[in-house]
Amino acid sequence: MIFAVILLAFLLGSVPFGYVIGKLKGVDVRKHGSGNIGATNVSRVLGKKWGAVVLLLDALKGALPVLLLKLSGAPLHYQVLAGLAAVLGHCFSPFLGFRGGKGVATGLGAFLVISPKVTFFAFLIFIVVFLLTRYVSLSSITAALSYPLLFKFFEKPDEASFIAVAVTAFVIVAKHYQNILRLLRGEEKKFR
Ligand code: G3P
Repeated sequence: MIFAVILLAFLLGSVPFGYVIGKLKGVDVRKHGSGNIGATNVSRVLGKKWGAVVLLLDALKGALPVLLLKLSGAPLHYQVLAGLAAVLGHCFSPFLGFRGGKGVATGLGAFLVISPKVTFFAFLIFIVVFLLTRYVSLSSITAALSYPLLFKFFEKPDEASFIAVAVTAFVIVAKHYQNILRLLRGEEKKFR
């Protein structure tokens, strides 16, 4: 049952809502803006309303499988593994030739269920960096990097849960490699 839910998390995570909504509106979001299928780029290309819809749907696909495991009393490390599976599904979607987004909203949804307290602090870090810089990518990267540290500090997790959280954060940061290069070159677009 637990492994079925983890597999389901990957499949649910693979559903590229940003891409699907873009296509329904006649736009391939991968060919516009940053080329990402996430909420930030959908906001850029289709407007904030559609960005918010994608943020919600992408967060839900991370949250639901984790919630299912949490409610059924599965140990923390399985919940975190389900979150990681959803993020991997989003980032390497079989429906998009194993390409995909950067996992921020999906990770947010999963992390929110895993630890609302830690997610709140990571979200605060996101907001502060965003207000100071207006770079969504830098805010996402900073929040993702801070998450394992905050998780360790506040939740005192077992080793397997900590490693799964750290891998999830690593995947999210690694998927931002193009943003990191643009930030270093001073070419990253600020969010208006
Ligand atoms: O959630 C992705 C965000 O951190 C960056 O998005 O479109 O600016 O690459 P984007």
